[in-house]
Amino acid sequence: MVDNSSYKHWRLEIDPRRVAWLYIDKAESSANVLSEEVLDELHEIIGVLAAERPRGAVILSAKSSGFIAGADVKEFTALKQQEQALELISRGQSLLDRLEALPFPTVAMIHGFCLGGGMELALACRYRVAEDEPRTRLGLPEVKLGIHPGFGGSVRLPPLIGAPAAMDLMLSGRTVDGRRAQKLGLVDYAVPARQLKRAAENLIFEEPPAHQPGRLLQLTNSAVVRPLLAGMMRRKVAQKAKPEHYPAPYALIDLWAEYGGDRARMLSEEARSVATLLSGETAQNLVRVFLLQERLKSLGREAAFTPQRVHVIGGGVMGGDIAAWCALRGLQVTVQDRNPESLGRVIKRAQGLYKKRLKVPRLMQAAMDRLMPDIKGDGVAKADVIIEAIFEDVSAKQSLFRDIEPLAKPDALLATNTSSIPLETLCEALSRPERLVGVHFFNPVAQMQLVEIVSGARTDPAEAQRAAAFVRHIDRLPLPVTSAPGFLVNRVLMPYLLEAVALESEGVPGPQIDQAATDFGMPMGPILLADTVGLDICLSVAEILSERLNVSVPERLRELVAAGRLGKKSGRGFYEYQGDKPVLPKTEKTTAAPADVTDRLMLRMLNEAMACLREGVVADADLLDAGMIYGTGFAPFRGGPMHYVARKGMGDLQVRLEELERAHGERFHADAAWASS
Ligand code: NAI
Repeated sequence: MVDNSSYKHWRLEIDPRRVAWLYIDKAESSANVLSEEVLDELHEIIGVLAAERPRGAVILSAKSSGFIAGADVKEFTALKQQEQALELISRGQSLLDRLEALPFPTVAMIHGFCLGGGMELALACRYRVAEDEPRTRLGLPEVKLGIHPGFGGSVRLPPLIGAPAAMDLMLSGRTVDGRRAQKLGLVDYAVPARQLKRAAENLIFEEPPAHQPGRLLQLTNSAVVRPLLAGMMRRKVAQKAKPEHYPAPYALIDLWAEYGGDRARMLSEEARSVATLLSGETAQNLVRVFLLQERLKSLGREAAFTPQRVHVIGGGVMGGDIAAWCALRGLQVTVQDRNPESLGRVIKRAQGLYKKRLKVPRLMQAAMDRLMPDIKGDGVAKADVIIEAIFEDVSAKQSLFRDIEPLAKPDALLATNTSSIPLETLCEALSRPERLVGVHFFNPVAQMQLVEIVSGARTDPAEAQRAAAFVRHIDRLPLPVTSAPGFLVNRVLMPYLLEAVALESEGVPGPQIDQAATDFGMPMGPILLADTVGLDICLSVAEILSERLNVSVPERLRELVAAGRLGKKSGRGFYEYQGDKPVLPKTEKTTAAPADVTDRLMLRMLNEAMACLREGVVADADLLDAGMIYGTGFAPFRGGPMHYVARKGMGDLQVRLEELERAHGERFHADAAWASS
């Protein structure tokens, strides 16, 4: 008999056919993660299994959220010392070695998330079966935390599926669904939920040979081929990440290239490499970013609100995409526009989105069925959430709110996607002004995770919390901000963009400006970003901000817009475009960019960030960092703008601002926050 009473996180059952079913169910947690306690218990259970000698063992999750989401990130941030990290990793490795060595067939039965350490545990089983649903996600996303697999994942995966696919998965951190995993050989079978158990049992009773890749793929791990492939991989990674910013992918390639033929050595070097990376600044900062993301998620949990019906008014660029996204995430959506052609475009774009994201025709159709064009606005009366996204005009928006308030359910969330009109102004139109809250999405909606939750002076905090809950419901990240001009993200970004325009009008070539920003770690240079957002949109945000803040708009931006050069969408902006790609002007190699380009760009951004913090636009420095990382892609390996300021030292940066003010003028005047902090 198995005694389960001593396990907090696992349950072991042995059925009459002597198949052991080992359920993981981490206590007090919605998802399974491999904490030290969970691993310690598994250690004990493997001993029990070895003694019981069942016909076979199936490891599965008792939670609907999925199999195992990975290691416990909070625990490993605490590991500042390399030796401590090395010890923990080595223990994890030997645990999975014991699992692998069990003398009977073992199967990982996977649904939902199977990531990082969870995937490595599955790889230590002889077989794997996965549920064939889009929500099944398998992968080794450790690079996203600045490390690489450490529990034998980099040792077991290349021989299992061949080096090209294995390394690609680990270097990109991307995840795959069950069907793709089966194609790759990562799982033996991807089957519908109702057949999962049967598939696992069949593997146990039939004991087919464990998966092996084809001959050619086996060769990719040989000593002759490894150095060649490693060179190609390094070049490919270099297109995306610089080694000084993101060392982990390079460390993984080196590890595999050097020790890929020697399993025991590869294991010990894998552990050593991860322990070194973990104590480095990039991993510490990326883990910080992960925890910031968790914090944003938790802000959506403060109110119990589970909306089912959403009504979006305004089916333009934003409203249309917000509506499509809500339907993708399972909500019933009506989208209203006075112009039927706009609604036609919404449906067309939604089809494209669903094809890309859902792939399976049945699921695409279901999402389309949830998205209803609604010219007359019948959806208002039934909606739990109403989002206004008509064009940016005070009286049009006010009159709309006046019309819909009496029709809406009394407890419906009333939200606006305005990017510049103060909530205080808009809510005047309502008989219950405290109801209005801003949900400021970013463009493109499907790619930008952040949504600013905007509260005006009169907004009821409970409504803001419900808005945050709604945003979580559609898998976006809520950031509470006040209704100050530009809110947080656009306001902090704008001085940086305008400084880039100023540099360009001084004659610094666009590519050099962009290069300075990407060298700092921004995902895209500011000139290309301005072109991508649209210069007309940049100009209108800049003008709104310039009215209320100390921002002046460079003439050059006005000239370009007046000349119809609106950026990528018009084929010409700062750059010329062929399709989606900029044709970069040739710059003379001899003309070096001025030495202060990076400082000019970044310090204007940091100065504005300090001002926002002083004014309380966001509650604290961590939230500001989270907002800029998820709203603009601010160099994640630097941990966010405020974290960067703290690392660089406030005093030094303030001195630099003063130098820049002397050289370039008042726009570099240090905000009062620098002196007072
Ligand atoms: P848009 O001009 O693409 O779309 C506006 C749509 O609203 C049009 O299809 C129009 O026919 C419709 N419309 C206007 N008045 C209406 C009414 N009374 N009833 C029903 N439909 C009506 O505008 P876009 O860019 O989508 O912007 C919408 C809102 O989102 C604005 O408040 C804007 O400030 C904000 N925003 C825009 C972002 C962007 O990058 N475009 C980013 C974040 C927010």
